[in-house]
Amino acid sequence: MKTLFAHRGMSSLAPENTLAAFALCRQHGIQWIECDVDILADGTVVVSHDDTLDRCTDQSGNLAELTKADLGDIDAGSWFHDDFIGEPLPTFEQLITLVNQHELNINVEIKSCSAGWAMTDKLIANVITALVQLDTGRELIVSSFNHLALAEFKRRRPQTSVACLFEAASLGDDWESVMQACGADYIHPEDQSLTQAMVARFKSSGYKINVYTVNDLARANQLFNWGVDGVFTDIAHRFPSKY
Ligand code: G3P
Ligand code: CA
Repeated sequence: MKTLFAHRGMSSLAPENTLAAFALCRQHGIQWIECDVDILADGTVVVSHDDTLDRCTDQSGNLAELTKADLGDIDAGSWFHDDFIGEPLPTFEQLITLVNQHELNINVEIKSCSAGWAMTDKLIANVITALVQLDTGRELIVSSFNHLALAEFKRRRPQTSVACLFEAASLGDDWESVMQACGADYIHPEDQSLTQAMVARFKSSGYKINVYTVNDLARANQLFNWGVDGVFTDIAHRFPSKY
């Protein structure tokens, strides 16, 4: 079974990490979405890759200085295209509602809070609280580059599958001990520099493998032929429907 993850939603057709981008998945036959979550000053969990508003909204500044009341003033769509003017920066709760309605599966990536461990800890707690709203039929993977945060998440919610994210440069000889410390079921390595031998090594240890970010169909085929289970892509709509 090959899994396609719509990376930040259908992020080449709609502004990344918005409800508009996730709502397009179903109509393109994509079952799995990937999203990034971070936290505001008042504890609200929001869906955003960056910890600032600068790149993907009409405003600037740090998420860590905002509260839920500020979200109403933020346009997270116009930077992408006029068709998305007024698209909100979504809360995680709003995304869970959409995931339930569209019967999607979800990979939630917990970002490292720029405000430090206390807020990362609160982010973990508030993600867990919000996940109560996820329908039981929905599949879930929680991932992070922050392996301390991931281990803490797994300690508090052991029933959830978790995935260690590794950048190519940080995938060292200690990768398996990191995986074990997190109780990880999946390894999510960066595509860059990934070799068939590395994939075979991950497989021989019994891990499922989802690779990010793969926007080349030939490379995706090569990875699947090596035994990779899934790829994160910004162009899920361009993959053959057999995926
Ligand atoms: O989870 C896979 C991928 O999203 C990790 O990288 O920077 O796109 O969040 P990034
Ligand atoms: Ca991500």
